[in-house]
Amino acid sequence: MIPKIWLAPLHGITSRTFRNTLCRHLGGIDFFMSPFLPAQTRGRLNRKVWQDIFPELNTAAPLIPQLMGNRPEQFVDTLTMLNEQFGYERFNINIGCPSSPVVRHTRGCGLMPHPDIVEEMVSAITSKTPYRLSLKMRLGLHTPDEGRELLQRLNGYPLDFLVIHPRLGDEQYTGTPHLDLFEEFCQLTKHNILYSGDIFTVEDFRILSERFPSVSAWMLGRGLLFNPFLAKEIKGMDSGDKAARFGAFHQDLVESLLPIRGESGTLANLKELWHYFSAFTHTSDEDLQKLLRINDLQAFCGEIERYI
Ligand SMILES: Cc1cc2nc3c(=O)[nH]c(=O)nc-3n(C[C@H](O)[C@H](O)[C@H](O)COP(=O)(O)O)c2cc1C
Repeated sequence: MIPKIWLAPLHGITSRTFRNTLCRHLGGIDFFMSPFLPAQTRGRLNRKVWQDIFPELNTAAPLIPQLMGNRPEQFVDTLTMLNEQFGYERFNINIGCPSSPVVRHTRGCGLMPHPDIVEEMVSAITSKTPYRLSLKMRLGLHTPDEGRELLQRLNGYPLDFLVIHPRLGDEQYTGTPHLDLFEEFCQLTKHNILYSGDIFTVEDFRILSERFPSVSAWMLGRGLLFNPFLAKEIKGMDSGDKAARFGAFHQDLVESLLPIRGESGTLANLKELWHYFSAFTHTSDEDLQKLLRINDLQAFCGEIERYI
């Protein structure tokens, strides 16, 4: 069976421009999840905030918007508005982001030690709206007991699926995913599970998919940046002339970013991406450092032609 592949939400990286350009040129991706957007109270909804998920700008694959917040009524208001304005019927809530400002405000992974709040949010959304709701979580913020408790409670609600990134928030992105705990979590939940974390090669995917046959779909994040053809390779699809396709993708990305982000914003975005793309293009650390020191978009684009 051909696996279902999601592009993982990477805040500041997988913007609508990146998602759609990548998918159009390189393929292999079945679904998008947007990076987190703030749940807001009705009356204070700002349309500009939602540009990333405008449906007319997200046509390359179906998109599930991801939201972050901690107040049930804000979620109900925001989901209702997103349905009325844009037609979305499926939503994801982020309870996995480990960044300190987010956690400090009891959002993202900061919610994992507070199962009452999460349950209140899920209960309000599933009882007051008809939308399909999923959550993206870690094992816990400090301990997997937090995740265990939450999974037991979530079994009582009708969820679309759960995405599990099997690390603790305290671990950020260090070490390796805890696969034994992931296995335990799969057994504890009655919901469909999507796996997210450290799929960098086809072999990583093969090992995981053999060990976890009940996982219904797979998210690729950093692995797809290190190797933009990874989704296709996992599916056994022909990638064609990779250098030519990557070059065309990159050029389209620059041209699409420019009117939205301007020269300096586009350059900043490309520099962030090249921390990852340099692995695909076998660019040495020394050459990458040289690239990152360039402060002019034209010069940057001229220079990367050497590596593509
Ligand atoms: C720079 C960066 C930004 C991220 N932003 C989000 C986000 O907005 N929402 C979310 O649920 N996860 C976010 N994540 C977590 C990823 O979606 C993913 O779960 C994690 O990186 C592990 O998968 P990977 O090893 O395939 O990258 C982010 C991760 C990184 C590295």
